Amino acid sequence: MAQKAMQINSVEDVTKSVKIPILESCIELPIEEETLIELTQKAKDWAIMHGAGMRSKTNFSSDSLNFAPFILTPCSFPRKQFEKALKIQTVLNELTHSIAHDEEFLKKTLAETIKVDEFTGNLYKIYEKILSEGISQPISLGLLRSDLMLESRCHGSIENANKSLCDYDWKQVELNTIASGFGHLGPISKSIQSYVLAELGAYDKLVNLPENNALFGICNAMIKAWEIYGNDEAVILFIIEDISYNICDQRFHEFEIRQMNPKIKVIRKTLTQIYNQSKLGPNKELIVGGHHISVVYFRAGYEPGHYPSQNEWDARLLIERSKAIKCPTIYYHLAGTKKVQQALSEPGMVERFIKDPATVAEVRNIFTGLYPLDDTNEGNAAYVLAMQDPERFVLKPQREGGGNNVYGLDIPDALKKMSKTERKAWILMDRILPPISKGYMIRPGGPIPPPIVDLVSELGIFGAIIGDAKSIKINYMAGHMFRTKISTANEGGVAAGLGALDSPYMVD
Ligand SMILES: Nc1ncnc2c1ncn2[C@@H]1O[C@H](COP(=O)(O)OP(=O)(O)OP(=O)(O)O)[C@@H](O)[C@H]1O
Ligand SMILES: [Mg+2]
Repeated sequence: MAQKAMQINSVEDVTKSVKIPILESCIELPIEEETLIELTQKAKDWAIMHGAGMRSKTNFSSDSLNFAPFILTPCSFPRKQFEKALKIQTVLNELTHSIAHDEEFLKKTLAETIKVDEFTGNLYKIYEKILSEGISQPISLGLLRSDLMLESRCHGSIENANKSLCDYDWKQVELNTIASGFGHLGPISKSIQSYVLAELGAYDKLVNLPENNALFGICNAMIKAWEIYGNDEAVILFIIEDISYNICDQRFHEFEIRQMNPKIKVIRKTLTQIYNQSKLGPNKELIVGGHHISVVYFRAGYEPGHYPSQNEWDARLLIERSKAIKCPTIYYHLAGTKKVQQALSEPGMVERFIKDPATVAEVRNIFTGLYPLDDTNEGNAAYVLAMQDPERFVLKPQREGGGNNVYGLDIPDALKKMSKTERKAWILMDRILPPISKGYMIRPGGPIPPPIVDLVSELGIFGAIIGDAKSIKINYMAGHMFRTKISTANEGGVAAGLGALDSPYMVD
């Protein structure tokens, strides 16, 4: 039976003796050594020569690229769950749009957090300022990415899971509203793994790698925003970090926009450069070094390090005050905080934004346990739970970009160091335990031949939405990305060097 074929074994999770199912590999492993060595080198060359690259962190040069780490053959993902994730994205887009425009909700939800979390507090100050001054550009561009993982623990045991694989469920890790990366690296992964499967003679399996037009979907939304702004001379501005290691995933957006509409220029600036080179025109036009800006696309600005001085905060405020269409607006940025994610899971909150009970139930079903850590009954109960059974949880601050969360046994020490007040800056989340896949992770400088390793995957679904407080003009699912990490790693950032590019191989 197809269900049975999906998983063939199980391993003991080291932390809790929970049996984790293993998903069946799309091809038989291991690959014979000589073939594996030759194929690995070919695939690396394929990756570099098609822009699946990153700048080296250890040996940085703006003149060269390393290939981005990738999984040689794609990891499996249940088709039914993949389709469910695609289908719900437009609902999540609209939900995020509604949250971003709900002043009362944002104010109440973030009231305590902003007192203790300086970064979120600074974002909030900008929000308050533009609310008091009046919003000059009512249209927002949302380029979102909802990240999710298959949950295997809900079945309790491997025996149970074997019986009801079709009930495999996924849970949302988070929803990003700023700098949602991998619009290029998502689709290019499909091309790498399609090439590898074909090289292995498994061309009949290519049909199981789903279409992925993320780059088109994301750039199309930016172009639509540019058209809505309505000035042919105006350009699109990318806000970037001082050094963009993940350069391919930004440049390909720029190239794609030019290809889709040769009239449109993209310029790239850091927030520091914006501070030095920008001003507002008489009608709040954003003028950067002589360019009139129609759309601002933030690929930086999501972590404190991107604001080394007050100047960068001033630059963010200047952009927010302008009539350029922003991706994201400051309120979309706030709507993507972990605190908002946690508050949304509280009773009655989804209902505040979605009226149809069936849709409410669908949305609720993707949430895993989320808990406040404030000085309320719920917050104090969550604190006790986390101290007693830390391996069940992930502790999260209001940050983006990876590397900020605290996992499992590290949680009690982290909590002990915090005062009751400091805890308000954090939320607690159930740890999702995804099933394991076996495969080869190929990374620059990695072992040859690569060993077979235990892997876990995370799927990200992109959403594009444009609208103002009253109406939505554009709302669609904009493709996907799939990244896979070693099963024992807590986080899987590819740019951070922990995860690898992958594509979901559909299994029934
Ligand atoms: N509840 C969870 N269960 C299991 N793993 C998790 C959970 N929450 C986060 N992770 C892991 O940690 C990573 C980072 O977490 P999260 O997405 O919340 O942080 P972030 O800083 O916003 O990351 P990003 O840069 O991807 O936006 C996830 O990609 C996932 O691999
Ligand atoms: Mg994030």
